[in-house]
Amino acid sequence: MSVEFVVHPSDHPLAAAERAAILAAPGFGKHFTDHMATATWTPDTGWRDRRVSALAPFSLHPSAAVLHYAQEIFEGLKAYRHADGGVWLFRPEMNARRFARSARRLAMPELDEESFVRGVEALVRADEAWVPDGGSEHSLYLRPFMFAAEAFLGVRPAEEFVFSVIASPAGPYFAAGVAGVTLWISAEYTRAAPGGTGAAKCGGNYAGSLAAQREAREHGCDQVLYLDSADRNKLEESGTMNLCLITATGELITPGLGTILDGVTRDSVLALAPDHNLTPVERPVTRAELSEGCRTGAITEVFATGTAAVITPITAFRSPTDDFTVGDGAPGKTTLTLREHILDIQYGRTQDTRGWLHRV
Ligand code: COI
Repeated sequence: MSVEFVVHPSDHPLAAAERAAILAAPGFGKHFTDHMATATWTPDTGWRDRRVSALAPFSLHPSAAVLHYAQEIFEGLKAYRHADGGVWLFRPEMNARRFARSARRLAMPELDEESFVRGVEALVRADEAWVPDGGSEHSLYLRPFMFAAEAFLGVRPAEEFVFSVIASPAGPYFAAGVAGVTLWISAEYTRAAPGGTGAAKCGGNYAGSLAAQREAREHGCDQVLYLDSADRNKLEESGTMNLCLITATGELITPGLGTILDGVTRDSVLALAPDHNLTPVERPVTRAELSEGCRTGAITEVFATGTAAVITPITAFRSPTDDFTVGDGAPGKTTLTLREHILDIQYGRTQDTRGWLHRV
């Protein structure tokens, strides 16, 4: 069975001048390319109709299961243009494997790794002109997703699914970006419980995070830092990013997996840590260890990782009971060096000794 996506080019691509204006200042998630990739699944046919065609709205029955029971998963990865004009993906097979794990958790059909990667590649090739020049550190953000399209109101796994990939040219996720962001530690909201969907990348997790994010904004913060749901004492993740701490003794500590997202950037940073004289450690971190460590200097830097956010310095925390800064409140030096290191790999400015890059 072929896993190739058949290309039907759009009859009405955006004019080159309009595309260039968007690429000059893309923002994040606001503009979309000319095409989309799709495939459909039913129990009888398996995955079929793999195609790339003009970007267009879906037509869904009002009872489609995704609209009622949120049977939906997604991924995020980027295409980077190197100085020689070539376009590369960063560890797309990790996204493919996480997509399959998310599918299992949400009782959805798995898409094999090859089809996932071929779908992403086919879309990037069709919309190659939309991949920004690497000099600006802009990229083409790719959003693979899958949803339950069956028209049926009973609560059971659906029997009709759509896989799709769309693409959006992207600049920094946070306006403050590399200058550092502030996290709100909510006393009210948690994100995930053991046995729940915390490790899956499903839309429902993000819907549940929006009230907490609004609370963070109301307190002047950019994002939320979640604590565990059992005793609200251990750090979990930020709504769209994993969290990492650097200690004065040279450890790079991040909460272990379980109820948090298994981030591709998180995994890459753990692998790069020894190059920066840091010992990678995955272990629980309490809220008190964070606040005391920041006050005493035992914790010297904090940053967050994510595909959209890359490596974003965290410069301060706020909560209903206390506020504290990290170090002197400026982005950490090692954080910025790690950020440069990962960007250098992604944009082909340094050798990819780990085989993380995937040529499109
Ligand atoms: C990503 O970093 O790719 C994410 O999925 C975070 C967010 C934009 C939902």
